[in-house]
Amino acid sequence: MTENGPFLRPGGTHDAEAIASLIEIVNRRPIDRARLEASLADAPSVMAVDDEGLAGFAYGRRFAPDVVELQNVLLAPRWRGRGQGRRLFAEVERAMSAAGYRAVVGANSLLHPGADPEHCAAARGFWLRMGFRVLMATGGTVVLGKWLPHPTETR
Ligand SMILES: CC(C)(COP(=O)(O)OP(=O)(O)OC[C@H]1O[C@@H](n2cnc3c(N)ncnc32)[C@H](O)[C@@H]1OP(=O)(O)O)[C@@H](O)C(=O)NCCC(=O)NCCS
Repeated sequence: MTENGPFLRPGGTHDAEAIASLIEIVNRRPIDRARLEASLADAPSVMAVDDEGLAGFAYGRRFAPDVVELQNVLLAPRWRGRGQGRRLFAEVERAMSAAGYRAVVGANSLLHPGADPEHCAAARGFWLRMGFRVLMATGGTVVLGKWLPHPTETR
């Protein structure tokens, strides 16, 4: 942990079990570990670590050669509402940009098993504050996107 919040470090496939456990504890839903590992192998991710262990993460997967899909950003409740989500997102955005991606997309869907309108709206609020724009909406799903800064702008 740092005085600014949890310690942030790059993630990898070895983090899959800790991420899955955190999702299962916080969101009370199971997660497909094989898909999670494939994502972690595919695109940059960032882990937030504190004295209690894994405190958050952000990961995605390749969507196109120069576009990445941000699949999940989550902070343990003990760190929410203190700017740490923005800090985590900024770090994964930097890593994605450094990996050569030029844009990031994401889906906010009410149609995922267990999704509820309140949490979906909260997540969408966060995405919009992070600079995403709505690209399309089906009624059940909102697709958002954002240009990534050029790597020289994020150093
Ligand atoms: C989304 C999440 C990572 C945000 O983390 P956080 O530390 O609480 O967020 P921050 O304090 O850094 O807030 C960042 C910005 O998002 C905004 N924001 C955060 N939660 C919001 C909400 N529920 N509705 C609208 N805006 C929200 C804040 O107002 C802030 O805006 P500002 O910096 O312009 O003032 C955290 O709440 C979480 O883990 N939620 C559950 C998982 C989830 O929904 N993930 C997102 C979709 S994958």
